[in-house]
Amino acid sequence: MRYGYFDEENREYVIDRVDLPVSWTNYIGTKDMCGVFNHTAGGYLFYKFPEYHRITRFRPNSVPMDGPGHYVYLRDDDTEDYWSVSWQPVGKPLDKASYSCRHGFSYSKYICDYNGIHAQQKLFVAPDDPVEIWDVTIKNTDIKPRNISVYSYVEFSFHHIDMDNRNFQMSLYAAGSKYENGIIEHDLYYEENGYQFFASNFKPDGYDCLRDSFIGDYHTEKNPIVVEKGICTNSQDTTLNHCGCLQNRLALAPGEEVRLIYLLGEGNVSNGKKMREKYANFEAVDNQFNKLSKFWDDKCEKLQIQTPDEGLNTLTNQWTLYQSEINVMFSRFSSFVEVGGRTGLGYRDTAQDAMCIPHSNPQKCKQRIVELLQALTTTGYGLHLFEPIWFDKNREDQSFKSPTVVPVPDKESFVHDIKDACADDALWLIGAIVNYIKETGEFRFIDETITYADGGEGSVYEHMIRILDFSIREAGANGICKGLRADWNDCLNLGGGESAMVSFLLYWALKQFVELAGYLARTNDAKKYEENAENIKNVCEDVLWDGKWYIRGITADGRKIGTHTDTEGKIHLESNTWAILSGAASEERGKIAMESVKEHLMTKYGLMLNAPPYTKPDDSIGFVTRVYPGVKENGAVFSHPNPWAWAAACNLGLGTEAMKFYDALCPYHQNDNIDVRQSEPYSYCQFIYGTAHSYHGRARHPFMTGTAGWAYFASTQYILGIQPDFDGLIIDPCIPKDWKEFSIVRKWRGGYYHITVKNPDGVEKGIRKMLIDGNPVDKLPILAEGNECRVEVVMGVAG
Ligand code: NOJ
Repeated sequence: MRYGYFDEENREYVIDRVDLPVSWTNYIGTKDMCGVFNHTAGGYLFYKFPEYHRITRFRPNSVPMDGPGHYVYLRDDDTEDYWSVSWQPVGKPLDKASYSCRHGFSYSKYICDYNGIHAQQKLFVAPDDPVEIWDVTIKNTDIKPRNISVYSYVEFSFHHIDMDNRNFQMSLYAAGSKYENGIIEHDLYYEENGYQFFASNFKPDGYDCLRDSFIGDYHTEKNPIVVEKGICTNSQDTTLNHCGCLQNRLALAPGEEVRLIYLLGEGNVSNGKKMREKYANFEAVDNQFNKLSKFWDDKCEKLQIQTPDEGLNTLTNQWTLYQSEINVMFSRFSSFVEVGGRTGLGYRDTAQDAMCIPHSNPQKCKQRIVELLQALTTTGYGLHLFEPIWFDKNREDQSFKSPTVVPVPDKESFVHDIKDACADDALWLIGAIVNYIKETGEFRFIDETITYADGGEGSVYEHMIRILDFSIREAGANGICKGLRADWNDCLNLGGGESAMVSFLLYWALKQFVELAGYLARTNDAKKYEENAENIKNVCEDVLWDGKWYIRGITADGRKIGTHTDTEGKIHLESNTWAILSGAASEERGKIAMESVKEHLMTKYGLMLNAPPYTKPDDSIGFVTRVYPGVKENGAVFSHPNPWAWAAACNLGLGTEAMKFYDALCPYHQNDNIDVRQSEPYSYCQFIYGTAHSYHGRARHPFMTGTAGWAYFASTQYILGIQPDFDGLIIDPCIPKDWKEFSIVRKWRGGYYHITVKNPDGVEKGIRKMLIDGNPVDKLPILAEGNECRVEVVMGVAG
């Protein structure tokens, strides 16, 4: 069953059946202000910090689902009938009203036709200001004149998520609202500059600033008393809960259309006035919207592909890039699942996100890398969760102690010790740094001086060495890296036991560092760490091979996990993909391990993380054994490691296999299977229930998952084989043998490469020849800024 379709031309996903089983989400905002919205305009808005500066309220995990939102109500003043422009909250029967939603890049549109009135509400954040714009049009499609009242509605939040959810004894009595000159001001009195404004481009016929006056006793957002009666109460006051309702009474002749602009922004009423002056005219609004489109055009044009796989094309050219960007912009902590209540950035997630898209967002990726370097301890591990503001020397302190100020704890309390360190966290940063340099050519970055979280400073290069030395040092009894609090798998808590995945990850990080050091002619370092890499590889091969696959680790009491003798957790995806992806596994073992992965872990919807799932709690393995079988880390199709398998398959030259893995997970291919998948088909979800669960195939936790970055990285760098290098662009695809041809346009270091890859012999890997503007090359050279070239690649046997 399908609920919508991809509109590639407009870069939108169109939901034409809005009675979805779960929210289908989108993100608006590209800088500091961010809104998370679903297909019925439910959601919330925050400024910079989802934990400390929430603008509109969200009732997480609640009924009705994922609300309240940013709503527009319409009321026929002749019949007293009312509805909303988004299907919810009023929820008119769908056989009487027609509803759709278009999620675009950093905007969403809600469209409705009901009883002779066509209406549309478009939500986006102005690229130039922290203001959410609602661009609303209402058209009388009837043959008679219509009297329609329009009511906006948002419910303001107390800024701090805790004060908004846990303890109101201060917040509820220290928040106020007022209406002045057509503008509503929400005031968090206990804060310095704790204001929001809500304004419109028309002179309101009425207003309400008090939520309970608008909604009414024993009413809900579905039937607010103000809309039901058709009269605003003009409420405003100090204390209690506040909202933004501005009323506009319209008399619409047949065929007449009006356009209304609403502005929800940071700052007090006088800022609201300024913003209204700036954005009350349509041209200014259109300019901002066009600027937003241009913002995304510029990103998308960095890489466009045309292959025989439609899903790969649409996702790579549009949605997976978008999803990866959203992760880099807003990290993991703002969705309908992670509702903003966790501190700042996660070390490993941020590092991987930043590694995957430096081509489309070099500034933000670099910013993230620097933030992570600042959160590295001199011991060499990263702070697992941190707020970049802790390390911001230009931070402005508030003049008084307010409960909502972003707390900056003492170093002693935020620098956790090794027992809370995750064994993988900082290793990902090596990949992020090396990829950033390969993409941008910014070699001087290596010598920039950056502070450490626990004091002192060093160059980026020195930070890298501390990361590697830490993991080399922290090896367990068998010479494999310790598992510590967790490795990539949050639920595998091996402590002083050992993690196969981390040793392979260390090997991967070392190889990248050696390549960099070698390129920079830091030969002693290159030699030293190459030796370390060799040593680790040998230990891995000695200790971790189980005959048909690599084990997952060793518990602190010396028990191997992920072996053929295990009845639960017999085989794991992470260690096997990383053995191959890192290059540590021999080709022979790699191929055997890949076969085993396919045999034990492959499903219709992608590869499961492990099998069979655990059914008995075992704390020497970790929390994974306390998760229901087939769910999340315990035997679900955990999406994030799936692209590792695509990359691993490519390392083995298995292009057909890689694409089979890709297609199984690809949400695009699930567009017509929503009765099973439930979640949106334009973003990867964190997991899909595994075969051990009756919900097998159901996807959960969209958008905020490291899958996006890795899916983008693995499909473009490994399957399509476009790999930036320090001194040129490598093209080394690994594709299904039945692909005859594909093409790529890549913008790299200022030049444009128009690449056509032909596969006349039906191979999966290997280049017979590569011609740039007709001349043979092994690697594409760096072009002068703005220059273009045509590249023809013929796959086949070299020479
Ligand atoms: C989600 C977490 O954000 C991520 O850090 C972790 O790697 C995965 N879960 C797997 O446990």
